[in-house]
Amino acid sequence: MNPSPIGVFDSGLGGLSVLREIRALLPHESLLYVADSRHAPYGEKPESFVESRTLDVCEWLVAQGCKALVIACNTATMHAVQAVRARFTTLPVIGVEPGLKPAAAASRSKVVGVLATANTLKSDKFNRLLGTLQHASRFVCEAGLGLVPMIEQGDIDSAAMRARLQSLLAPMLDAGADTLVLGCTHYPFLTQTIREMVGDRLTIVDTGVAIARQLARKLAEFDLAAPSDAAPRDRYVSTRDAAHLRAMAAALLGVDAAAETVTIGTDLTA
Ligand code: DGL
Repeated sequence: MNPSPIGVFDSGLGGLSVLREIRALLPHESLLYVADSRHAPYGEKPESFVESRTLDVCEWLVAQGCKALVIACNTATMHAVQAVRARFTTLPVIGVEPGLKPAAAASRSKVVGVLATANTLKSDKFNRLLGTLQHASRFVCEAGLGLVPMIEQGDIDSAAMRARLQSLLAPMLDAGADTLVLGCTHYPFLTQTIREMVGDRLTIVDTGVAIARQLARKLAEFDLAAPSDAAPRDRYVSTRDAAHLRAMAAALLGVDAAAETVTIGTDLTA
């Protein structure tokens, strides 16, 4: 029996870093992944656009029969999770947010670097969270402008990527940061490159595993977990280019996934 799928969505390929953790923790669940790559990056688009695209994609996932939604994108969570929860009141909706709290707890120097999109850093939700933790740590935040388009092209360790990372990490290291929050789901694909650049000077915090655990808790709470004899069937769809999504899923996750190109919503111009 194929269980109803869990919808996992990102502006592009970044949510694959969350999907990887969900797949590892919940091997019996079927996953339907949407990369809205036609519209990436969300991090540099108007907030109203991010909200309406997120609602369109979630609408599509629900129409495909998804039993739960994972917004595997910090930017979309910051600007749209409330609207998604208000529209889909009967489904578990799991969002992601930068791991500021675990980072503050892990930091010894009490200086934490935060790398996230410009839209995440300027959102009210992010700044409220930051405000609750000012006593626990100092946060040095940098907008990773340009990183998402490079990762979307498969560039995770070129000289240009290293130079860009160097300029983003330098202010954090100069301020004495010993912990780095990856506040965008695209960025975990840079972990190895960052590690090669900074060695053990920075403890890297991303929230993929925590999201997978939160999803497992919600599935249990809503009595939606797939039975242990379920045969999972995953689908990968892109709003831009299925072949590219397939190639990137193979390169980034090592999975050979059939992928489809789909049209979602009405706006095809961005
Ligand atoms: N992966 C996304 C995030 O977690 C969005 C990146 C983007 O489209 O700018 O914020």
